[in-house]
Amino acid sequence: MKCIAYVSRVPISDRTIRMPTGLSDIVSVSRKHNPKSQITGIISYRDGQYLQVLEGPYLEVDKLMIKIASDPRHEDLWVFLDVRVIKRSFNNWAVSVFDFVDQGNFFNAFIE
Ligand SMILES: Cc1cc2nc3c(=O)[nH]c(=O)nc-3n(C[C@H](O)[C@H](O)[C@H](O)COP(=O)(O)O)c2cc1C
Repeated sequence: MKCIAYVSRVPISDRTIRMPTGLSDIVSVSRKHNPKSQITGIISYRDGQYLQVLEGPYLEVDKLMIKIASDPRHEDLWVFLDVRVIKRSFNNWAVSVFDFVDQGNFFNAFIE
């Protein structure tokens, strides 16, 4: 199993005050696809930036990352974590879209 985490930017033209255009589509497609591919993780958005963590079988995570990397709804994607894991940090596809600055404890637990 592997875990990938990245940050990316929403194109300026797609930014709105609270949520970028297209985010609800991303969330609904993810909720549909990810459980089938045994992918769990989170997506977070704040001030024009996404942070996403994906974990699951190597092949499934890599296949999804190819799609995500070529998705025009974001740019400047930077993968800062790509590691083998033996255990999941997230138990389901908790695509609750949340503000990561307000989730300090949640992220501290993941980073540890
Ligand atoms: C920031 C961001 C995160 C995304 N996360 C996921 C995801 O976790 N799961 C997923 O299936 N698609 C995700 N997508 C959408 C994919 O890029 C792609 O549009 C979607 O999987 C549909 O692919 P398909 O048309 O081949 O079925 C994400 C897109 C963006 C911009």
